[in-house]
Amino acid sequence: MTDIEAIKIRKSVRKYEKRELSPEIIKEIIHFIQNPCKGPFGNETRFIFIEKPVAKAKEKVRLGTYGFISNALYFIGGCVEKFEFSEVDYGYCLEKIVIRLTSMGLGTCWIGGTFNRKDYAKLLDLKPNETIPAITPVGYKAEDKTLREKLGLTFTDGSKRYNFDTLFFEESLNKPLIFDPDDPYHKALECVRLAPSAVNKQPWRVIKVGSKYHFYLKREKITGAPKSTDLQKIDMGIALSNFKMALNELNIRGKWHIHNPNICDLEYIISWIDEIHFMQ
Ligand SMILES: Cc1cc2nc3c(=O)[nH]c(=O)nc-3n(C[C@H](O)[C@H](O)[C@H](O)COP(=O)(O)O)c2cc1C
Repeated sequence: MTDIEAIKIRKSVRKYEKRELSPEIIKEIIHFIQNPCKGPFGNETRFIFIEKPVAKAKEKVRLGTYGFISNALYFIGGCVEKFEFSEVDYGYCLEKIVIRLTSMGLGTCWIGGTFNRKDYAKLLDLKPNETIPAITPVGYKAEDKTLREKLGLTFTDGSKRYNFDTLFFEESLNKPLIFDPDDPYHKALECVRLAPSAVNKQPWRVIKVGSKYHFYLKREKITGAPKSTDLQKIDMGIALSNFKMALNELNIRGKWHIHNPNICDLEYIISWIDEIHFMQ
C-alpha cells in the first residue's frame, strides 16, 4: 500500500481485538519508530513502543484512556523538546508512524487529551525540557464499537471533512482553489484535507501564491483541551506530514520556508516552496 492510499483509508480505531501482535510485527514497528525523525522546524522527536501488560507489571503504570479506547494492548508514546513549534514537529513525525502502521493493517487513534501524561513521562524518562503532545494505541481493529461510541459519547463525528475549496485558496482567502485531479499539488492538498485533527476541527488553511503554499491555522476553541499542549499545532504537523508524504510519492520536490507573507489575518505557520521556484 502506498502512503497516499494509507492516508485515504486511515480512520481512528477506538476498539481493538485482544489479539497479540507477532514478534516480527513488533520488531518492524520498533525499528521504524527508532528512525530519527525531525519535523519541518528541525526538532527531533523520540518514540517508544509500549506493551501495556509488561509496563503495568514492571512500571506500575495504568495507561488508562478514560474509557475512550477499549482493549488496546499496545501504545506508542513519544516526546519532543519544548519550544514554540514542538507540537508541529511532533505531529509531523508521529503521523509518519501512524501511516506506516495503517499500511501494515493496524489501527491507531491520535489521543491528545484523554490519557495520563504522568504514566508516559515515567516510561519515556521525560526530561524537564521535553513534552508529550499525544500518543496512540496500536492494534487490530475490533469489529464492534466502544461503549462510548455506541452511546454517542465521543467528542465528534470523525467521518466528515470540509470541501477542498473551503480549506484551500489562491492568492488570498477570497479566492477558493478549485480541485484539479491532474495537479499533483492538489493531490497532496487532498491528503491534508483527509488528515485527522483534534475534535475534527480541521484548522488548516492553505493559500497558494505562485509556486508557494502558505500554511495557516484557523483556530477554534476546544473545550477541555489539555493546558500542557497545543492540539491545533499537532493538527498542523499532521497536515504537513501528509502533504510531504504525498509530494514524495508524486516525485515533487521543494523545501519548507518560514517567512510570513502577511496576506491574511490567520496564524501563519510555514510555507512550502516548489523546487522550480527556489532554484530560479
Ligand atoms: C491532535 C489530536 C488529538 C486527538 N485527541 C483525541 C482524544 O483525546 N480522544 C479521542 O477519542 N480522539 C482524539 N482524536 C481523534 C479525532 O477525534 C479524530 O481524528 C477526528 O475526529 C477525525 O476522525 P478520523 O481520525 O476517524 O478520521 C485526536 C486527534 C488529533 C489529531
